[in-house]
Amino acid sequence: MLVPMECARWLPQGTFEGEVALVTGGGTGLGLEFTRGFAALGASVVIASRNTEHHQPILEEARERGWKVEAHAVDVRENAAVREWVEDVVARHGRIHHLVNNAAGNFVCPSERLSQRAWRAVLGIVLDGTFYCSRHVGRHMLAAGGGTMLNVVATYAWTGMPGVAHSASAKAGVLALTRTLAAEWAGRGIRVNAIAPGPFHSDAAKHNLWPEEETEERIRRSVPLGRFAERSEVAALGLHLCSPAAAYVTGECLTVDGGLSLAAGRLFEPGELGGRNEQ
Ligand code: HXC
Ligand code: NAP
Repeated sequence: MLVPMECARWLPQGTFEGEVALVTGGGTGLGLEFTRGFAALGASVVIASRNTEHHQPILEEARERGWKVEAHAVDVRENAAVREWVEDVVARHGRIHHLVNNAAGNFVCPSERLSQRAWRAVLGIVLDGTFYCSRHVGRHMLAAGGGTMLNVVATYAWTGMPGVAHSASAKAGVLALTRTLAAEWAGRGIRVNAIAPGPFHSDAAKHNLWPEEETEERIRRSVPLGRFAERSEVAALGLHLCSPAAAYVTGECLTVDGGLSLAAGRLFEPGELGGRNEQ
Protein backbone atom coordinates (compact mmCIF):
# COMPACT_ATOMS: atom_id res chain seq x y z
CA MET A 1 0.00 0.00 0.00
CA LEU A 2 1.22 3.50 -0.79
CA VAL A 3 1.67 5.64 2.30
CA PRO A 4 0.45 9.26 2.17
CA MET A 5 3.13 11.89 1.65
CA GLU A 6 4.14 13.22 5.07
CA CYS A 7 5.72 16.39 3.67
CA ALA A 8 2.59 17.26 1.67
CA ARG A 9 0.01 16.96 4.45
CA TRP A 10 0.48 20.47 5.85
CA LEU A 11 -0.60 22.30 2.71
CA PRO A 12 -4.00 22.13 0.99
CA GLN A 13 -4.41 19.45 -1.67
CA GLY A 14 -3.67 20.84 -5.12
CA THR A 15 -1.51 23.70 -3.77
CA PHE A 16 0.81 23.41 -6.79
CA GLU A 17 -1.75 22.08 -9.30
CA GLY A 18 -0.84 22.97 -12.87
CA GLU A 19 2.57 24.31 -11.86
CA VAL A 20 6.06 23.17 -12.81
CA ALA A 21 8.78 22.65 -10.20
CA LEU A 22 12.47 22.00 -10.87
CA VAL A 23 14.42 20.15 -8.20
CA THR A 24 18.17 19.64 -8.52
CA GLY A 25 19.34 16.43 -6.90
CA GLY A 26 15.65 15.51 -6.74
CA GLY A 27 16.12 11.73 -6.88
CA THR A 28 17.81 11.15 -3.51
CA GLY A 29 17.76 12.29 0.11
CA LEU A 30 16.07 15.61 0.85
CA GLY A 31 15.64 16.38 -2.85
CA LEU A 32 13.54 13.23 -3.22
CA GLU A 33 11.19 14.52 -0.51
CA PHE A 34 10.83 17.83 -2.34
CA THR A 35 10.01 15.93 -5.53
CA ARG A 36 7.42 13.82 -3.72
CA GLY A 37 5.90 16.83 -1.96
CA PHE A 38 5.53 18.97 -5.08
CA ALA A 39 4.18 16.01 -7.07
CA ALA A 40 1.70 15.02 -4.34
CA LEU A 41 0.44 18.61 -4.27
CA GLY A 42 -0.22 18.61 -8.02
CA ALA A 43 2.93 19.97 -9.68
CA SER A 44 4.80 18.53 -12.64
CA VAL A 45 8.28 17.94 -11.27
CA VAL A 46 11.47 17.99 -13.31
CA ILE A 47 14.58 16.56 -11.66
CA ALA A 48 18.18 17.19 -12.67
CA SER A 49 21.19 15.32 -11.36
CA ARG A 50 24.21 13.52 -12.80
CA ASN A 51 23.48 9.87 -12.15
CA THR A 52 20.38 8.45 -13.86
CA GLU A 53 20.40 5.47 -11.47
CA HIS A 54 19.30 7.97 -8.84
CA HIS A 55 16.20 8.74 -10.92
CA GLN A 56 14.76 5.27 -11.34
CA PRO A 57 13.09 4.82 -7.90
CA ILE A 58 11.15 8.10 -8.04
CA LEU A 59 10.17 7.57 -11.69
CA GLU A 60 8.81 4.15 -10.69
CA GLU A 61 7.00 5.60 -7.66
CA ALA A 62 5.52 8.37 -9.84
CA ARG A 63 4.15 5.78 -12.28
CA GLU A 64 2.49 3.93 -9.40
CA ARG A 65 0.99 7.06 -7.86
CA GLY A 66 0.04 8.83 -11.07
CA TRP A 67 2.39 11.74 -10.43
CA LYS A 68 3.97 13.85 -13.18
CA VAL A 69 7.73 13.46 -12.70
CA GLU A 70 10.53 13.46 -15.26
CA ALA A 71 14.29 13.35 -14.79
CA HIS A 72 17.31 14.53 -16.76
CA ALA A 73 21.02 13.87 -16.52
CA VAL A 74 22.50 17.32 -15.86
CA ASP A 75 25.65 18.41 -14.05
CA VAL A 76 24.78 21.76 -12.45
CA ARG A 77 28.46 22.76 -12.60
CA GLU A 78 28.11 23.05 -16.39
CA ASN A 79 26.57 26.39 -17.27
CA ALA A 80 25.77 25.38 -20.86
CA ALA A 81 24.13 22.13 -19.74
CA VAL A 82 21.97 24.00 -17.22
CA ARG A 83 20.91 26.53 -19.87
CA GLU A 84 19.99 23.75 -22.29
CA TRP A 85 18.03 21.91 -19.58
CA VAL A 86 16.05 25.02 -18.58
CA GLU A 87 15.34 25.98 -22.21
CA ASP A 88 14.15 22.46 -22.94
CA VAL A 89 11.80 22.45 -19.93
CA VAL A 90 10.37 25.84 -20.92
CA ALA A 91 9.92 24.71 -24.53
CA ARG A 92 7.99 21.58 -23.47
CA HIS A 93 6.11 22.83 -20.39
CA GLY A 94 5.76 26.51 -21.25
CA ARG A 95 6.48 27.66 -17.72
CA ILE A 96 8.62 27.08 -14.61
CA HIS A 97 6.99 28.19 -11.34
CA HIS A 98 9.44 26.85 -8.73
CA LEU A 99 13.12 26.03 -8.49
CA VAL A 100 14.72 24.13 -5.60
CA ASN A 101 18.52 24.33 -5.55
CA ASN A 102 19.16 21.22 -3.48
CA ALA A 103 22.13 19.56 -5.25
CA ALA A 104 25.32 19.50 -3.18
CA GLY A 105 28.56 17.69 -2.56
CA ASN A 106 30.30 17.42 0.77
CA PHE A 107 32.87 15.51 2.80
CA VAL A 108 34.88 16.19 5.93
CA CYS A 109 38.51 17.18 5.43
CA PRO A 110 40.91 19.36 7.45
CA SER A 111 41.38 22.64 5.56
CA GLU A 112 45.14 22.30 5.39
CA ARG A 113 44.70 19.01 3.51
CA LEU A 114 41.94 20.16 1.17
CA SER A 115 43.24 20.04 -2.42
CA GLN A 116 42.40 22.63 -5.03
CA ARG A 117 40.28 20.08 -6.95
CA ALA A 118 38.45 19.11 -3.77
CA TRP A 119 37.67 22.77 -3.02
CA ARG A 120 36.53 23.34 -6.62
CA ALA A 121 34.38 20.17 -6.64
CA VAL A 122 32.23 21.41 -3.75
CA LEU A 123 32.22 25.12 -4.66
CA GLY A 124 31.35 24.13 -8.23
CA ILE A 125 28.30 22.07 -7.28
CA VAL A 126 26.98 24.23 -4.46
CA LEU A 127 27.77 27.83 -5.37
CA ASP A 128 28.31 27.81 -9.14
CA GLY A 129 25.51 25.29 -9.66
CA THR A 130 23.04 27.31 -7.61
CA PHE A 131 23.94 30.47 -9.49
CA TYR A 132 23.68 28.87 -12.94
CA CYS A 133 20.28 27.34 -12.16
CA SER A 134 19.00 30.55 -10.54
CA ARG A 135 20.19 32.71 -13.41
CA HIS A 136 18.71 30.62 -16.22
CA VAL A 137 15.44 29.90 -14.42
CA GLY A 138 15.38 33.54 -13.21
CA ARG A 139 15.56 34.86 -16.79
CA HIS A 140 12.54 32.75 -17.67
CA MET A 141 10.59 33.71 -14.52
CA LEU A 142 11.28 37.42 -15.04
CA ALA A 143 9.90 37.18 -18.57
CA ALA A 144 6.97 34.97 -17.54
CA GLY A 145 5.75 36.91 -14.51
CA GLY A 146 7.46 35.42 -11.48
CA GLY A 147 7.97 32.31 -9.40
CA THR A 148 9.72 31.04 -6.29
CA MET A 149 13.20 29.74 -5.57
CA LEU A 150 14.36 27.78 -2.57
CA ASN A 151 18.03 27.21 -1.73
CA VAL A 152 19.20 24.52 0.67
CA VAL A 153 22.02 25.73 2.93
CA ALA A 154 23.31 24.66 6.36
CA THR A 155 23.69 26.59 9.62
CA TYR A 156 27.48 26.40 9.36
CA ALA A 157 27.11 29.04 6.62
CA TRP A 158 27.15 31.50 9.54
CA THR A 159 28.51 29.50 12.50
CA GLY A 160 31.38 27.89 10.56
CA MET A 161 32.34 24.29 11.35
CA PRO A 162 35.66 22.45 11.47
CA GLY A 163 36.24 20.14 8.51
CA VAL A 164 33.88 21.71 5.99
CA ALA A 165 35.61 24.93 4.83
CA HIS A 166 34.55 24.20 1.23
CA SER A 167 30.89 23.46 2.01
CA ALA A 168 30.52 26.23 4.63
CA SER A 169 32.04 28.80 2.27
CA ALA A 170 29.82 27.66 -0.58
CA LYS A 171 26.67 27.66 1.58
CA ALA A 172 27.55 31.14 2.89
CA GLY A 173 27.79 32.24 -0.73
CA VAL A 174 24.41 30.68 -1.48
CA LEU A 175 22.90 32.49 1.50
CA ALA A 176 24.29 35.81 0.19
CA LEU A 177 22.93 34.92 -3.25
CA THR A 178 19.52 34.16 -1.71
CA ARG A 179 19.29 37.61 -0.15
CA THR A 180 20.76 39.40 -3.15
CA LEU A 181 18.42 37.79 -5.68
CA ALA A 182 15.48 38.27 -3.31
CA ALA A 183 16.21 42.01 -3.17
CA GLU A 184 16.95 42.23 -6.90
CA TRP A 185 13.88 40.35 -8.13
CA ALA A 186 11.25 41.11 -5.45
CA GLY A 187 9.65 43.84 -7.55
CA ARG A 188 9.34 41.47 -10.48
CA GLY A 189 7.43 38.63 -8.86
CA ILE A 190 10.20 36.26 -7.80
CA ARG A 191 10.58 35.21 -4.16
CA VAL A 192 13.89 33.64 -3.14
CA ASN A 193 14.25 31.90 0.23
CA ALA A 194 16.53 29.37 1.88
CA ILE A 195 16.22 26.58 4.36
CA ALA A 196 19.00 25.52 6.74
CA PRO A 197 18.45 21.96 7.95
CA GLY A 198 20.26 20.36 10.82
CA PRO A 199 21.48 16.78 10.42
CA PHE A 200 19.14 14.32 8.71
CA HIS A 201 19.78 10.87 7.29
CA SER A 202 20.74 10.42 3.67
CA ASP A 203 23.03 7.79 2.17
CA ALA A 204 25.53 10.46 1.11
CA ALA A 205 25.55 12.27 4.45
CA LYS A 206 26.10 8.99 6.29
CA HIS A 207 28.88 7.98 3.93
CA ASN A 208 30.63 11.38 3.85
CA LEU A 209 29.89 12.90 7.26
CA TRP A 210 29.09 10.34 9.98
CA PRO A 211 30.20 6.90 8.72
CA GLU A 212 30.82 5.64 12.31
CA GLU A 213 27.94 4.84 14.66
CA GLU A 214 29.69 6.65 17.56
CA THR A 215 29.97 9.88 15.55
CA GLU A 216 26.32 9.67 14.59
CA GLU A 217 25.32 9.06 18.22
CA ARG A 218 27.47 11.96 19.47
CA ILE A 219 25.85 14.29 16.92
CA ARG A 220 22.39 13.07 17.92
CA ARG A 221 23.11 13.78 21.59
CA SER A 222 24.29 17.31 20.74
CA VAL A 223 20.93 18.24 19.18
CA PRO A 224 18.74 19.92 21.84
CA LEU A 225 15.62 18.19 20.46
CA GLY A 226 17.53 14.92 20.80
CA ARG A 227 17.16 13.49 17.30
CA PHE A 228 18.04 13.92 13.64
CA ALA A 229 15.45 15.64 11.45
CA GLU A 230 13.06 13.62 9.30
CA ARG A 231 13.63 14.56 5.67
CA SER A 232 9.88 14.99 5.26
CA GLU A 233 9.66 17.62 8.03
CA VAL A 234 12.49 19.63 6.44
CA ALA A 235 10.87 19.39 2.99
CA ALA A 236 7.47 20.37 4.44
CA LEU A 237 8.84 23.75 5.58
CA GLY A 238 10.59 24.27 2.25
CA LEU A 239 7.35 23.57 0.41
CA HIS A 240 5.61 26.04 2.70
CA LEU A 241 8.10 28.75 1.67
CA CYS A 242 7.35 27.99 -2.01
CA SER A 243 3.58 28.07 -1.47
CA PRO A 244 1.18 31.03 -1.44
CA ALA A 245 1.10 30.65 2.38
CA ALA A 246 4.50 32.41 2.35
CA ALA A 247 3.60 35.01 -0.30
CA TYR A 248 5.00 37.83 1.87
CA VAL A 249 8.30 36.07 2.69
CA THR A 250 11.42 36.63 0.63
CA GLY A 251 15.15 36.69 1.39
CA GLU A 252 14.53 34.59 4.51
CA CYS A 253 16.51 31.60 5.72
CA LEU A 254 14.50 29.21 7.85
CA THR A 255 16.57 27.12 10.28
CA VAL A 256 15.20 23.60 10.88
CA ASP A 257 17.88 22.09 13.09
CA GLY A 258 16.25 20.99 16.35
CA GLY A 259 18.11 23.84 18.12
CA LEU A 260 21.58 22.55 17.18
CA SER A 261 22.97 25.92 16.14
CA LEU A 262 21.79 27.42 19.47
CA ALA A 263 23.79 24.81 21.34
CA ALA A 264 27.13 25.81 19.83
CA GLY A 265 28.00 28.62 22.23
CA ARG A 266 26.29 27.50 25.41
CA LEU A 267 28.19 27.52 28.69
CA PHE A 268 25.84 25.29 30.70
CA GLU A 269 23.91 22.14 29.96
CA PRO A 270 20.25 22.17 31.07
CA GLY A 271 20.94 19.33 33.52
CA GLU A 272 23.59 21.27 35.43
CA LEU A 273 21.61 24.45 36.10
CA GLY A 274 20.51 23.56 39.66
CA GLY A 275 19.35 26.74 41.41
CA ARG A 276 16.97 27.36 44.26
CA ASN A 277 13.41 26.18 44.09
CA GLU A 278 11.72 29.49 44.81
CA GLN A 279 8.03 30.14 44.08
C1 HXC B 1 39.39 14.74 0.87
C2 HXC B 1 38.30 14.39 -1.15
C3 HXC B 1 37.33 13.57 -0.51
C4 HXC B 1 37.46 13.36 0.90
C5 HXC B 1 36.86 13.68 -2.62
N1 HXC B 1 37.96 14.43 -2.44
N2 HXC B 1 36.45 13.15 -1.44
N3 HXC B 1 39.30 14.97 -0.47
N4 HXC B 1 38.50 13.98 1.55
N5 HXC B 1 36.60 12.61 1.57
C6 HXC B 1 38.73 15.13 -3.45
C7 HXC B 1 39.30 14.17 -4.48
O1 HXC B 1 40.47 13.54 -3.99
C8 HXC B 1 39.60 15.14 -5.65
O2 HXC B 1 40.75 15.91 -5.41
C9 HXC B 1 38.44 16.11 -5.57
O3 HXC B 1 37.90 16.01 -4.24
C10 HXC B 1 37.34 15.79 -6.56
O4 HXC B 1 36.94 14.44 -6.35
P1 HXC B 1 36.06 13.66 -7.42
O5 HXC B 1 35.64 12.37 -6.81
O6 HXC B 1 36.75 13.64 -8.74
O7 HXC B 1 34.83 14.68 -7.57
P2 HXC B 1 33.38 14.47 -8.04
O8 HXC B 1 33.18 13.19 -8.76
O9 HXC B 1 32.99 15.72 -8.70
O10 HXC B 1 32.58 14.29 -6.64
C11 HXC B 1 32.17 15.36 -5.90
C12 HXC B 1 32.21 15.06 -4.39
C13 HXC B 1 31.36 13.82 -4.01
C14 HXC B 1 31.74 16.28 -3.67
C15 HXC B 1 33.66 14.79 -4.03
O11 HXC B 1 31.43 13.58 -2.64
C16 HXC B 1 29.93 13.94 -4.39
O12 HXC B 1 29.59 13.93 -5.58
N6 HXC B 1 29.00 14.04 -3.44
C17 HXC B 1 27.55 14.23 -3.76
C18 HXC B 1 26.66 13.85 -2.65
C19 HXC B 1 26.99 14.46 -1.29
O13 HXC B 1 28.14 14.71 -0.97
N7 HXC B 1 25.96 14.66 -0.48
C20 HXC B 1 26.13 15.05 0.92
C21 HXC B 1 25.38 16.24 1.23
S1 HXC B 1 25.34 16.58 3.01
P3 HXC B 1 42.24 15.48 -5.93
O14 HXC B 1 43.08 16.68 -5.63
O15 HXC B 1 42.64 14.27 -5.14
O16 HXC B 1 42.12 15.21 -7.41
C22 HXC B 1 25.66 18.24 3.19
C23 HXC B 1 25.48 19.04 4.44
C24 HXC B 1 25.59 18.36 5.75
O17 HXC B 1 26.01 18.85 2.26
C25 HXC B 1 25.39 19.33 6.90
C26 HXC B 1 25.24 18.66 8.26
C27 HXC B 1 24.77 19.61 9.34
P1 NAP C 1 22.22 13.73 -1.30
O1 NAP C 1 21.13 12.72 -1.27
O2 NAP C 1 23.57 13.30 -1.72
O3 NAP C 1 21.77 14.93 -2.23
C1 NAP C 1 22.63 15.57 -3.10
C2 NAP C 1 22.07 15.47 -4.50
O4 NAP C 1 22.80 16.35 -5.34
C3 NAP C 1 22.14 14.07 -5.11
O5 NAP C 1 20.86 13.70 -5.60
C4 NAP C 1 23.11 14.23 -6.28
O6 NAP C 1 22.68 13.45 -7.38
C5 NAP C 1 22.99 15.72 -6.58
N1 NAP C 1 24.21 16.28 -7.17
C6 NAP C 1 25.46 16.25 -6.65
N2 NAP C 1 26.32 16.83 -7.49
C7 NAP C 1 25.59 17.25 -8.56
C8 NAP C 1 25.92 17.94 -9.75
N3 NAP C 1 27.17 18.30 -10.03
N4 NAP C 1 24.92 18.22 -10.64
C9 NAP C 1 23.64 17.83 -10.38
N5 NAP C 1 23.28 17.19 -9.25
C10 NAP C 1 24.25 16.90 -8.36
O7 NAP C 1 22.37 14.42 0.11
P2 NAP C 1 21.33 15.11 1.11
O8 NAP C 1 21.91 14.82 2.45
O9 NAP C 1 19.93 14.74 0.83
O10 NAP C 1 21.55 16.65 0.81
C11 NAP C 1 20.55 17.45 0.20
C12 NAP C 1 20.78 18.91 0.54
O11 NAP C 1 20.66 19.12 1.94
C13 NAP C 1 22.18 19.41 0.15
O12 NAP C 1 22.07 20.75 -0.31
C14 NAP C 1 22.92 19.39 1.47
O13 NAP C 1 24.01 20.26 1.49
C15 NAP C 1 21.82 19.81 2.41
N6 NAP C 1 22.01 19.49 3.82
C16 NAP C 1 22.10 18.19 4.20
C17 NAP C 1 22.21 17.90 5.56
C18 NAP C 1 22.27 16.48 6.06
O14 NAP C 1 22.38 16.28 7.28
N7 NAP C 1 22.15 15.47 5.22
C19 NAP C 1 22.22 18.94 6.49
C20 NAP C 1 22.15 20.26 6.05
C21 NAP C 1 22.03 20.52 4.70
P3 NAP C 1 23.70 12.80 -8.45
O15 NAP C 1 24.74 12.06 -7.68
O16 NAP C 1 22.79 11.92 -9.27
O17 NAP C 1 24.26 13.94 -9.26
